[in-house]
Amino acid sequence: MNPKNTISKENPFKICFVCLGNICRSPTAEGIFQHLVNEKGLQPYFYVDSAGTSAFHIGERANSKSRQIAEKNGVELKSRARRFEAEDLDEFDIVVAMDSENYQNIVSLDDNGSYSDKIIKMRDYDPQPENGDVPDPYYGGMDGFRNVFDIVYRSCEALLDELENQIK
Ligand code: 4NP
Repeated sequence: MNPKNTISKENPFKICFVCLGNICRSPTAEGIFQHLVNEKGLQPYFYVDSAGTSAFHIGERANSKSRQIAEKNGVELKSRARRFEAEDLDEFDIVVAMDSENYQNIVSLDDNGSYSDKIIKMRDYDPQPENGDVPDPYYGGMDGFRNVFDIVYRSCEALLDELENQIK
């Protein structure tokens, strides 16, 4: 990942987490990453957002199971679903896809490949990456949502550890 060498209060790092519906995985990632930023007192250095590559759930709050698990772990999910737009590729310093399908959806918005350095996958940062995808929990039970929380938590910890080194 190379999008910005130096993060400062004047030049905060803008990060957007992206899944399909923007109601389960990416709101969880947004909430967890913001929570970790808050715990470290790094709020001035980061701007955190999320979006979905589909328009299915625009305007909705995060899924109730996602919110329930997050709350149990002291994480608040505040997002309202929005669609990821091509302009977001210019706006954000990195765009973090939850799985390969959404990674491809994002790449397909980057017509001439000028943003390829800033499009990454969440599990690139997971110490236990398995197949590299954060599994879609939408049609399953509570266990799937718990699994998403755990995967995203450890991936966000590793990502923030790396980004902290760029703060000046
Ligand atoms: P998400 O989960 O991409 O993690 O927000 C989904 C939410 C909704 C649908 C699929 C996945 N859906 O098909 O409506």
